[in-house]
Amino acid sequence: MRVGSFAFAAYCGLTLAAPTITKRASVDDCPGYKATNVEDTGSGLKVDLTLAGARCDSYSEDLQDLVLEVEYQTEDRLHVHIYDAGLNQYQVQDGVFPRPENKKTSPSDSLLEFKLNENPFSFQVIRKGNNSEILFDTTGHKLVFESQYLGLRTNLPDNPNIYGLGESSDPFRLPTQGYHRTLWNSESPYLPFNSNLYGSHPVYFDHRGASGTHGVFLLNADGMDVNISKGDDGKQYLEYNVIGGTFDFYFLAGKQPSDVSRQYAEVAGYSPMYPYWTFGFQQCKYGYWDVNMVAEVVGNYSKAGIPLEVMWTDIDYMDRRRDFTTDPENFPHHKMVELVDTLHSRNQKYILILDPSIYAKDRSYGPYQRGDSAGIFIKKTGGSNGEDYLGVQWPGIVAWPDWFHPDTQDWWTNEIIGLFNSSGGIDIDGLWVDMNEASNFCHNYNCNLEEAAVGNPPALTHTPRPNTGRPIEGFPKDFQPGSTTPSVKARYASPVKHRNTLPAAARGMAAIASPQVNSRELGAKKGMPRRDLLTPKYKIQNHVGELSNSTLRTDQANYDGTMQYDTHNLYGHMMGWKTHEAMLKRRPTKRPFVMTRSTFAGTGRKINHWFGDNESSWEHYRLTIRQMLTFVSMHQMPMVGSDVCGFNSPAEERMCARWALLGAFQPFYRNHAEISTPQQEFYQWNLTRIAGKKAIDARYKLMDYAYTGLYRQTTKGEPWIKPLFFEYPEDANTFNIQTQWFYGDSLLISPVIDDYSDTVTFYLPKGNWYDYWTGNKVPELGGANITRSNVSFTDIPVFIKGGSIIPTRLNSANTTTELRKQPFNFLIAPDENGEATGRLYIDEGELIDQPDITELELTWKDGKLSSTGTRDYNPSNGESVEFKQITVLGQDGGSYSDPNTKYDAKTKVSRKTGQWKLNEDFQVSL
Ligand code: NOJ
Repeated sequence: MRVGSFAFAAYCGLTLAAPTITKRASVDDCPGYKATNVEDTGSGLKVDLTLAGARCDSYSEDLQDLVLEVEYQTEDRLHVHIYDAGLNQYQVQDGVFPRPENKKTSPSDSLLEFKLNENPFSFQVIRKGNNSEILFDTTGHKLVFESQYLGLRTNLPDNPNIYGLGESSDPFRLPTQGYHRTLWNSESPYLPFNSNLYGSHPVYFDHRGASGTHGVFLLNADGMDVNISKGDDGKQYLEYNVIGGTFDFYFLAGKQPSDVSRQYAEVAGYSPMYPYWTFGFQQCKYGYWDVNMVAEVVGNYSKAGIPLEVMWTDIDYMDRRRDFTTDPENFPHHKMVELVDTLHSRNQKYILILDPSIYAKDRSYGPYQRGDSAGIFIKKTGGSNGEDYLGVQWPGIVAWPDWFHPDTQDWWTNEIIGLFNSSGGIDIDGLWVDMNEASNFCHNYNCNLEEAAVGNPPALTHTPRPNTGRPIEGFPKDFQPGSTTPSVKARYASPVKHRNTLPAAARGMAAIASPQVNSRELGAKKGMPRRDLLTPKYKIQNHVGELSNSTLRTDQANYDGTMQYDTHNLYGHMMGWKTHEAMLKRRPTKRPFVMTRSTFAGTGRKINHWFGDNESSWEHYRLTIRQMLTFVSMHQMPMVGSDVCGFNSPAEERMCARWALLGAFQPFYRNHAEISTPQQEFYQWNLTRIAGKKAIDARYKLMDYAYTGLYRQTTKGEPWIKPLFFEYPEDANTFNIQTQWFYGDSLLISPVIDDYSDTVTFYLPKGNWYDYWTGNKVPELGGANITRSNVSFTDIPVFIKGGSIIPTRLNSANTTTELRKQPFNFLIAPDENGEATGRLYIDEGELIDQPDITELELTWKDGKLSSTGTRDYNPSNGESVEFKQITVLGQDGGSYSDPNTKYDAKTKVSRKTGQWKLNEDFQVSL
């Protein structure tokens, strides 16, 4: 546990006690609202809501007059917005979350129905149809709408299947009793359970088996607790407790689980397509001390014969941890340039990190100076002369960019392009934005800056790296022994080490003299004046205590007059989007790759995410799966993954080997570790070397299949990584499964789950299944748990769903550039009727606008493979659109006269080889 992991176990014990959902006596006494002036708008309603009695002011000021707007926006989407008539409550800015178009559907055409009860006000959302399912029902519960507290409860069926509400490390199917999900973005090393983590996605999926699935999205960025429990009357409910904003709901009708994902994509946005190379294997570590060491890792991968596509460097490359600089001794600029050039010449990529905090104590530091003259840093509210609001981060005392300032984008873009360019700069291929919750080492709002900054930038406590004197394979002279080796010195060591546990005051105990009062123009949706923005009375269960702990003070204003109190959860989202914009400026025609730690609903419209500072533990190996399932299938972030082999704590060989295999079947595949942990690259141990090679080999052969899945999600919103219940919505055995998943439509991944075990029990739904590795058909069991033992640490059970055609590359390769030169093989796994279908999408891999694409629908029927679709992709640079083999599984008999067809009686696999082209019409029979 070291720097970078400063806020963890020490206080976890204090905050992880079982949640208590206390009865809020004063809120229970609130009068609720009554509805009047019900106006039919043709595609919805507009209604006045008035407080139905004396104000209770339980947590803050009750708002007398509200408006209820109901819009049947599309056939399957209902928008229900309850807001203050004065339009003072904060509403998320349009540029931050672009609202979906209201297509003004006639209520009679909608799959949903809104039912209003006027006095006391409550409502129901009903899915029409045979059994008219009540999806959301506030009957019997009073609406509470105060300036700093919104409360609303919906009745749910018993034992509901609720998913979503990320980011958390909690069970995939959320607990239904005494459970709370707090949404307040926070630096969260070790990903504590039942806590708010780095991102906020106030959307849940409610799956009711054969009756269908629906989704509920609350567009509200304020901090909140969503409680799921049973009332005193034993009735199941879900309850929102929000500290500001409005009740801005989108109800998504479903009724298949994937329909809800698609409907959510229409609201929160579709992910962009990512470059083909981003599916390659990637390596990072906090604590690669110098540029030679980075090169050495790349060389070691080559030497071990393990393909490495992307190399990353953490904040180690910076001069004293300052953004937009390079350490002149350990990462001299010219060697960084040479490193990138070398990687590019080897068809590899390079990604660097940026933090939002900008060192603010050195007038000669260009990025600060330029930002300061542009006035783009968050200003100290109530401070004099446009003084910056300051805090502490890696470089010491810092200011933070105000992403709402109109000039911040230009400043950020210029700094990015200034260092990361192809004319003498470091020509990176992607950016990683971190610490953007925003994390502040000044752990509470009363902290002393100078004291908190002691030890930042942290002392480099390692000893100088011995020159191994070994050649670095595939690198130029400058990186070889005898050349100018960067010298690691504790050049900016400070006598006191960075404090790496939270001080007591950060746990929410510190008192504040007087709450800040902000008076601003009314009616502008920027938040009510006269609020207690630091210590509101309703306390969400933030795992670091008060709202401002370990982040920016929530009473600070943004340039547009909104407050951190309301916009805190958007900071990382905005930083990520601005970085995306900068990357677009840099290479306007190419798909940017930006990875962010902190997210909000809709972040996935432009950028991707990794799950932050997990631990090298079996628990977090398992956690990877449920986080991935939630983000891809429910939050529309299809390019996610966790640090393979774990970030904090030393990795162990067997666990890392299993994780190498598991990670190969998650979308984003990067091995990353913390500064104080031993190196954990796959070449470090025998098992990880074998597992890594095997995993990457399989992943690469399946890359076009995965790319096709991602493409579908970016264009249709249909998730490409799915939990089992998405495919088997009526099979109740699947509802709780969080250790298996679908990688694409056809591959069911069922890794060994238990610590150090070689046995796994997994569920195979009804239907035909084939073992991916052997091709063998699994005996039909009709939906059953299967136990496999003797699964070595270099194996992972993968099954192909009968009825699938999987496009694969015939051979793997060292880089994705080489991979694209390999011909295709179609893997055909017939269903009970001997039939199968599949898809293949191919494009050039990097351009935003693809001139020519190939998009095929494949069919296997009556022993013949055929395709329909567009076939316009014309390969260049030796790429292949040929296919040379079909592999048909589960064939009975099979003696072929054709010498190009071979049958293996043991596995019942038939293989036919030939020469066909994907950009021409083809029909292939066995
Ligand atoms: C925290 C990030 O989550 C981690 O991945 C990174 O290595 C450290 N910051 C240092 O930049």
